Amino acid sequence: MTAKEKPVSQQDTAEKSFTLTNDQTGENWKLPVKEGTAGPPVIDIRSLYADTGHFTMDPSFTSTGSCKSRLTFIDGEEGILMHRGYSIQELTEQSSFLEVSYLLLYGDLPTVEQLKGFHKKITYHTMVNEQIHYFFRGFRRDAHPMAIMCGVVGALSAFYHDSLDIWDPRQRDISAQRLIAKMPTLSAMTYKYSMGQPFMYPRNDLNYAENFLYMCFGVPAEPYEVNPIHARAIDNIFILHADHEQNASTSTVRLAGSSQANPFACIASGIASLWGPAHGGANQAVLEMLAEIGSVDNIPEYIAKAKDKDDPFRLMGFGHRVYKNRDPRATVLRDSAHEVLHDLGIDNDPTLELAMALEKIALEDEYFVDRKLFPNVDFYSGIILRALGFPSTMFPVLFALARTVGWISQWKEMIEEPSLRIGRPRQLYTGPAARPYVPIDGRA
Ligand code: CMC
Repeated sequence: MTAKEKPVSQQDTAEKSFTLTNDQTGENWKLPVKEGTAGPPVIDIRSLYADTGHFTMDPSFTSTGSCKSRLTFIDGEEGILMHRGYSIQELTEQSSFLEVSYLLLYGDLPTVEQLKGFHKKITYHTMVNEQIHYFFRGFRRDAHPMAIMCGVVGALSAFYHDSLDIWDPRQRDISAQRLIAKMPTLSAMTYKYSMGQPFMYPRNDLNYAENFLYMCFGVPAEPYEVNPIHARAIDNIFILHADHEQNASTSTVRLAGSSQANPFACIASGIASLWGPAHGGANQAVLEMLAEIGSVDNIPEYIAKAKDKDDPFRLMGFGHRVYKNRDPRATVLRDSAHEVLHDLGIDNDPTLELAMALEKIALEDEYFVDRKLFPNVDFYSGIILRALGFPSTMFPVLFALARTVGWISQWKEMIEEPSLRIGRPRQLYTGPAARPYVPIDGRA
C-alpha cells in the first residue's frame, strides 16, 4: 500500500478509528470513532473538510449525529425509549410529568423535597402577564391554535426581559421554569379563545395535568370536578411526549439556539416545526383520516392508496424515522385509550373500532410488515384527546405543551456545552456556475 496516510487532529485521543479512502488518489484518512453509553458508534468528521477538502451529504440526517446528549435514548430496532436511563414504561407507570420534567432538566429523579420545591417554582409561574390577554385578541377566533401558539410563545420574550440573558445559569433556569409553567396556561387560553369562552386563571392547588384540564374545560359560572382517570391519561400523554432525541422540532430549537437567540424565541421555532403533519400534526391528521375512511369496509381501499407510489396518501399514525419496531409510547397509549373510553362509557366507540381494525389489517399487510411500519404515538393520542373533548386542531398544541420540557432541556444542555458554536450546515451547490451579468436590454 503506497497510499499516504494523513493524520486527523482528533485521532490521537480516539481509541478507535475509521479509515476513509479516496479511490482516485489512493489517499487514506483515519477518522476517530467515538462511543456513547448506548447506540451505534459515531465517526467524528468535524475535521474532514479541513483535512480532505470534502463535505459530507445527508440532507435529512439519516446517518448524522448533530450533538452529544445525555437526555434521551431511543433504540428503534428494539422499540426502546429511555430518559436519563429510565424506561418510558417505568416513567409512565410510576412517575408524574413534573417528576419527568425535573429529571430531564436536572439529570436525576427528584427527592421528595426537590419535587416539592420544583412544584412550588412551577406553580409560582403559571400565570401570564395580563397584557398577553390583549395579544390574544388580535387573532381571529378561527385561527389554528398552533398559529396562535407560535405567536404568543415567541412574544413571551417581549414580557420577561429579566430572564433573557442566556449566559446566566439562574436566568436560564427561570426561563425554563416559566416555559414549563406557562405552556398549559397559554394552551388552554388558545382553546378558550377559539370557543369564545372566558380565559380561566390557573389553580395552583391542582396538579399540572388537573390544572390544565380545569383551565380548558372549567367555566367561571360553575364548579369543575377534575376526573382523576382523565387527569392521569393527560399526564401520561405529557410524559410520553416530553422528549424524543434529536427530532425535527428539537433540532430546530437547537439550531435556533445555536445563534444565541433567547429561549422563548427558540421554543416558538420548535412549535412551528412541530406543526407539520409529518411530525406533531400527525395526531390531528389521524383523526381526519379515520373520519375520511368512515367504515371498516373502506379500509382495503385506503390501504391500497397508502401503498400506491403515485398517490400521496399515507396512513397517518404509521411509521417512524427511528422506530422499526413498535413505538413504546403507542403501546402505553393503546391501553390508556381503552381505559378513558371505558370511563366515559363509550366502549363501542366507532372511531376506536375503526382504528383497531386498521391497525390489525396494516400489521398483517406485507407492505407494512416489510417496511416495519408500526402504529406510532399519534395513532392513539388523538383518540384519547377527542374522547376528552379536545378538537383535533388542539392535538398538536398538547404535543407542544409536553415537548416544551424536552426542547428547553435540550437547549439548556446545548448552551452549557463549552464547545457551543453556531450551527451552519454545508451544501452541494447545483445551480449555474459563475457567469457574467447581462444588462436587461441584452437578455433574450
Ligand atoms: N404510509 C404508507 N407508507 C409509508 C408510511 C405511511 N405512513 N410511512 C412510510 N411509508 C413508506 C414510504 O413510502 C417508504 O416506502 P418505499 O421504501 O417503498 O419508498 C418507506 O415506508 C420508508 O418511508 P420514509 O418516508 O423513508 O420514512 P421516513 O423516516 O422518511 O418518514 C415518517 C417517517 C414518520 C415521516 C413517515 O413514516 C410518515 O409520513 N408517517 C405518517 C405521519 C406520521 O404518523 N407522523 C408521526 C411520526 S411519530 C410522532 C413524532 O415523533 O413526531
